[in-house]
Amino acid sequence: MNFHILTLFPEMVMDGLGTSITGRAMEKELLSIKAINIRDYAFNKHNSVDDYPYGGGAGMLMQAEPIYQAYEALRSKMDLPEGKKPRVIYLSPQGSTFTQAMAEDFAKESELVLLCGHYEGIDERVLEEIVTDYVSIGDYVLTGGELPAMVMVDAISRLVPGVLHNDVSAEFESFQDHLLEYPQYSRPEEWHGKKVPPILLSGHHANVEKWRREQSILRTALRRPDLLEKAELSDKELENLRKQLENLQNSLQE
Ligand code: ADE
Repeated sequence: MNFHILTLFPEMVMDGLGTSITGRAMEKELLSIKAINIRDYAFNKHNSVDDYPYGGGAGMLMQAEPIYQAYEALRSKMDLPEGKKPRVIYLSPQGSTFTQAMAEDFAKESELVLLCGHYEGIDERVLEEIVTDYVSIGDYVLTGGELPAMVMVDAISRLVPGVLHNDVSAEFESFQDHLLEYPQYSRPEEWHGKKVPPILLSGHHANVEKWRREQSILRTALRRPDLLEKAELSDKELENLRKQLENLQNSLQE
C-alpha cells in the first residue's frame, strides 16, 4: 500500500509516521509513506503558494495550481489501470467523521493520496477537480490537515497484513463487533492491593473467553452505550447484562 501526503510540512508528517510501528512497516517495505512538498510546485519566484481570497475576508488561501501540479506529478507516475484516478482524501472539519469502517474501506486501495490544507483553506476549484473523499477526524478545528492525515495513515496501516506483529490482534479489539475491549492485566498478580481477576489465572481457556466477552459487553454498556445498539447480543447475553447492571446499581446504593 502506498500513501502519498500532499503537504506544506513534510518533515512533520514523516517524523511522526517514521517512528514506531508505521516506521518499521516502511523499513520492511510492507507499505510506503511519502510526503510531497506542495511548495516544490510553486509557480512564482517568491515560492509562495497562498493568496488573498476574492471577496475579502480574513487570512490566506492555498492556491489551486501548486496543488494541482503536485497531484499531476504524482498521478502520472502511478501504476493504475487506464482511466482510473486515485482516491484523494481532503482532510477538513467539513468532511465525514473518520471511523474504523472507513479505515477498513481505505485499506483496500493500493494508492491513497491525502491532501493537507493550511491557512484558511484551499481554492475550491482544485478540490472539485481532484478530491474524491472529504474526511474529518472529529468536531474540532486544527491548524492544518497534517495531524488528521497522520491519524488516518496510522489507523489504515495497522490493517495492512503483516504490519502488526500479531495478526489476530487487529481482529479482536475495540470496535470489532461494536464492542469495546475487555480489561487486561499483567504481572504482578497483586498491585496497590488490587488483585488480578482469579478467572484469568485459572488456565481454563473457555471460561476466560466467556469472562472477557461479558466484560466487553458490560464496559460498552457503561462507557459507550451508543455502540451497543449495533452489537449483536444474544438474549442470554442481554439478560446477563441486565443482571450485572442491577448488581452494580445495588452495590452503589449500599
Ligand atoms: N483540518 C482542521 N481540522 C480538521 C479536522 N478536525 N479533521 C480533519 N481535518 C482538519
